[in-house]
This record gives sequence, structure tokens and C-alpha cells, in this order.
Amino acid sequence: MKSFASRVIHWQQHNGRHTLPWQGSRDPYRIWLSEIMLQQTQVATVIPYFERFVARFPSLPQLAAADEDDVLALWSGLGYYSRARNLHAAARYIIEQHAGVFPDTPEQIARLPGVGRSTAAAIAALAHGQHCAILDGNVKRVLARHGGIAGWPGDKKIEVTLWQLAEALLPTGTLHHAGAIETYTQGMMDLGALVCIRSQPNCAACPLNADCVARMQGRTAELPAPRPKKQLPEKQVQMLLLLDRGELLLEKRPARGIWGGMWSLPELAVDDDPGRHCQEHYGVAARSQKILPKLSHSFTHFKLHIQPVQLHLASRLATAPGQIWLPPADALDAALPSPIRKLVVQLMKD
Ligand code: ADE
Repeated sequence: MKSFASRVIHWQQHNGRHTLPWQGSRDPYRIWLSEIMLQQTQVATVIPYFERFVARFPSLPQLAAADEDDVLALWSGLGYYSRARNLHAAARYIIEQHAGVFPDTPEQIARLPGVGRSTAAAIAALAHGQHCAILDGNVKRVLARHGGIAGWPGDKKIEVTLWQLAEALLPTGTLHHAGAIETYTQGMMDLGALVCIRSQPNCAACPLNADCVARMQGRTAELPAPRPKKQLPEKQVQMLLLLDRGELLLEKRPARGIWGGMWSLPELAVDDDPGRHCQEHYGVAARSQKILPKLSHSFTHFKLHIQPVQLHLASRLATAPGQIWLPPADALDAALPSPIRKLVVQLMKD
């Protein structure tokens, strides 16, 4: 049987993806940007965001010179906004610490904010042809099945085993030809995304099926083991859609924490009275109040239940720093978290 790596490479050449917008170039800036966007988001969602981002910021110096607000606005809707803040910080770091030249070793790349070991390896391999192993969620699934590795791959001990496997299986010797590591790296990603998918993997089409432990033992449905279930804490909050003469009040979130630096709505505890809050906090009375349908949003560490309340103000309040009044249509151009965006879209329909 051909080696693991040569089967992956051959399969990628014939069946892998070759026309993604960040492929066909070795520009580390584009590859880095795509890898960051792809960290928690599927390819189909990323593509339009990627296109808009590189159209606006075609190169690293242009990103480094941008306002954080503009970077966040381009990220709006992709979620996990610390990725955008880290990207911006990393661009400035490369300008200052590397004279604007993207670093080319995995160790140096891993020092950039927002870049972990696997992302650094992917950039080093795809942009610089460096011989290093990746281990993202898709690759963990391929390796856990092929090697029959039980346990949740996020568990430290299992992860160490998977890293060792990933390194041991890299192309070697005669496969050290030009382009081999790039094709192999992309092949592992493509296999995980297209063939060795979580439910109902297409084993018949897999180049690794002949020696895949999970397949041979009929265990593809149980491997890799899922994350042990733990109940996420739940938080409740009211959010105010304060309206005056067709404009909506947005407030900028603190730089750190959930939705850091993005534009959101005023929040208050669920047991506070919105009308009284307007009077006491903003010094303005509301002339009407409407309770809107609830919505929920899941973060990694908790679930947020939002009770939106729409209030028409009796008079305009003086705007303080970090506040802005915008017509809802213009608000959609700002860096809004997804649930806030949904509320604004709904507001425009009403
Ligand atoms: N997921 C993470 N990196 C990727 C890439 N370069 N191509 C496709 N999917 C990916």
C-alpha cells in the first residue's frame, strides 16, 4: 500500500479543492487572513467575507493602518470578534517587529496574536512550503478515525497523541518534492471537510479507507468522541431599542470582553423597568414601549437570552462619547454583533 501521505497528496490533486479565493497565491497575508476566518467558520460563509476584506485591505500595511472600527465592521456577522481584533493587532506587530515582512517560521508565526500552533503550521506550510503538521478540528477527526484514537480530541492527553501522529504521517523522503507539503496540508483539510465528515462520512471515496481503524471496526459513528456535555450557564438581559425621529441609539461596547469594541444596544437587568431606566439613566421619558420577541445567542461559555424592548423617546437625549444615533439602515454598516443585527433588520421590517 502507498504511504498515508502519498495517498492524501494523490487524492488532493484529483479530488481536493483548488479554486478557493485564497488558493493560487502564496501571499502569506491572504493565507493568514483565510486561516483566521476559517478557524470557527465554514468555507461557504467565509468566502464573501474574505473577498470583501481583501478588496478593502489588499495588503498587510493597509490593514495595519486601518481603524479598528472599520476592521470590525468588515467582520460583522462572522462572530468570534476577538479574531478581528487580534488580526489587526498582529498586522501592527508585523509592521513594528518584522519591518512589515510576514514571518516565515512556524515558531515566529505562532507568536502573532490569535495564531495557535495549527494555524501557524498551516500558514508556514501553505505560504512558505515549511514542513510542519497541522491539527485543526477536521484533521483531528481524520486522524482519530484512521488511528482508532478513542477519547475527546480536545482532551490534553488525546491532543498530544494526535499531534504525534500528525507529525509522524507528514510526507517524507521521495515525497519531499516541491509543493508536496502544500498539497498534503490542503489534502488533510479537504478530506476532513469533504469526505471524512462528522456524520455519514463517505468512506467509499476515501484514500485512507484500506487501513482506517474506525472503518474496519465499524466505529466511524463513535470516533472521534464528542466533547463531554456540560450545561452552559445562561444569562438573561433586556436590550433597549431607543428610537427618536427614525433613528436608533447604539452604544459602543468596552474594548475587552464579549463583543469588545462593537456597537450594541443599551442593556439592563431583566428586573429593571425600561421606562424608569430611560428616565433615570438618560434623563428622557419614553412615550411608548413595546416588548419584542425574545432571542437567544450562544457563546462558547454561556448562553445569552435577550429580551428586546422598543421605546420611542419623548425628546432627544444629549449623546455622550461612545453613543451614536443612526437610521437603522445605516446602523447595518456598523460593526454589530449578529443578534443585534437581527434586531435592527427586524426593526426595519416593522
Ligand atoms: N479550513 C481551514 N483552512 C482551510 C483551507 N486553507 N482551505 C479550506 N478549508 C480550510
